[in-house]
Amino acid sequence: KQTAKIIMVSNRGAYNLQATESGIRPVPAISGLVSAVEPLLKEKGGVWIAWGGREAPRKNATGLRLPVPQDDPLYSFQEVPLTAEEIELYYNGFSNGALWPLCHYFLEKCSYKAAEWETYVKVNNKFAEAALLETTEGDVVWVNDYHLALVPSIIRNRQPKAKQFFFWHIPFPHHDLLSTLPWASHILRGLLGTDVLGFHLRSYADNFLNAVASLLDAEVDFEHNTVYWQQRCIYVGAWPMGIDYHNFRRRAMDPATVSRAMALRSQFNVERLALSVERLDYTKGIVEKLLAWERFLDKSPKWRGRTSLIQIAVPSRTAVPAYRLLKEEVEAVVQRINHRFGQGSYRPVHFFWQGIPRQELVSYYLAADVMLVTPLRDGLNLVAKEYVASRRDGSGVLVLSRFAGAAQELKGAVLVNPYDLDGMAALFTRALNMDREEQEKRMRLMQERVRRYDIRWWLGCFYQAMMAAEREISHVS
Ligand code: UDP
Ligand code: G6P
Repeated sequence: KQTAKIIMVSNRGAYNLQATESGIRPVPAISGLVSAVEPLLKEKGGVWIAWGGREAPRKNATGLRLPVPQDDPLYSFQEVPLTAEEIELYYNGFSNGALWPLCHYFLEKCSYKAAEWETYVKVNNKFAEAALLETTEGDVVWVNDYHLALVPSIIRNRQPKAKQFFFWHIPFPHHDLLSTLPWASHILRGLLGTDVLGFHLRSYADNFLNAVASLLDAEVDFEHNTVYWQQRCIYVGAWPMGIDYHNFRRRAMDPATVSRAMALRSQFNVERLALSVERLDYTKGIVEKLLAWERFLDKSPKWRGRTSLIQIAVPSRTAVPAYRLLKEEVEAVVQRINHRFGQGSYRPVHFFWQGIPRQELVSYYLAADVMLVTPLRDGLNLVAKEYVASRRDGSGVLVLSRFAGAAQELKGAVLVNPYDLDGMAALFTRALNMDREEQEKRMRLMQERVRRYDIRWWLGCFYQAMMAAEREISHVS
């Protein structure tokens, strides 16, 4: 008997396919989903089915299959080719112009269009088809995120016995909001094709259960977090994603990482360095944070010339108008602040529109006295946990939005409300002034949490839930 393998399915995988003179090259992609899920595939092998981030060379093209990572192959990347029209309607349109803003409570940014929904259905069928081609009995199909909500039920109809797990990586909205979407019940029915459905927080899972109870004719057992639907039992769990804590600790010890951190300190040459690292996304609250930084400098003249904010903004979804507008807005604010408070070689904000390879990020984490993670809403936020893990000596201050999922775990952070600019500015001052003793006390508390609930814990939860679901399935049948 062959051993069970993992079929990972997500819209974007760990690589984008880039055309070069010597052929197609897989280039690492940046996201929390990739950071969390790739270690499992690297360890256990299997296949990751995803779009390659490029337009299909021809209509009806078959996707490329590549062993990855290229220099030391550990699993297979299977491309799902998408046409230009599918990218526009399914990815830019329905996924990032409807579901993404809806789930992050940006109702005014949502646009609901029938043609986009139809393409979403079509592309979900494409992904399910690709997964079915890989799956033999006993394998586990693990589907990820809002782009592919219909995949579980499509697979269930075709292969009723398939073992399925679905993880929803972003917030799940209250059903009052969800029901503004004309196809809300289809999204719920699609997800209920899975055996186990995971969210980061209990509140997201509860929102899902409440939505199912109010929009579908399903039986919901709130006490046991289960839904009974079409003679099946679906378990809905809350497991905040963890990081590879020890790996970050090790990297933070590496002499090359430490000397790069020192080089960054002398390059930016201020008493206190603040850092922000995120995709350039309106949910991350970049403009609000910059405005608060400006207010802080306004109100605290003694900090001018003595502190700078390094803002790393990774280009993201640049074909979606809201993201393009955001870049212009952010650049204008940065320019204004630098114009107002810059002097000689001193700049209060250093803005970089680029991604940093994960190895190098640890040097930035080490160089930063204060880490600003201030999203308006975020499913979890791994960057906050990575900063905590990297601070080996216990120094450093994490300023964290109360609307990031990670705020529920990271009790030692300075919690801010990113909608309250004056409040946030005052807390920046508090963070920059915090004495070493308090820093260490808070940091050790957070490190303990991030160490215990790490990536292994998270993957173990998934495994246990799958085993429990299997017992339930064999009990029913
Ligand atoms: N990241 C990176 N390089 C960058 C910025 C971010 O490798 O320049 C990684 C970061 O280490 C983290 C992930 O991208 O693991 C971002 O995850 P998070 O949950 O914070 O946000 P998301 O992008 O998924 O919304
Ligand atoms: C978030 C989502 C992921 C997505 C990532 C990057 O982390 O949960 O599903 O892959 O953002 O966005 P992109 O649109 O570039 O894939």
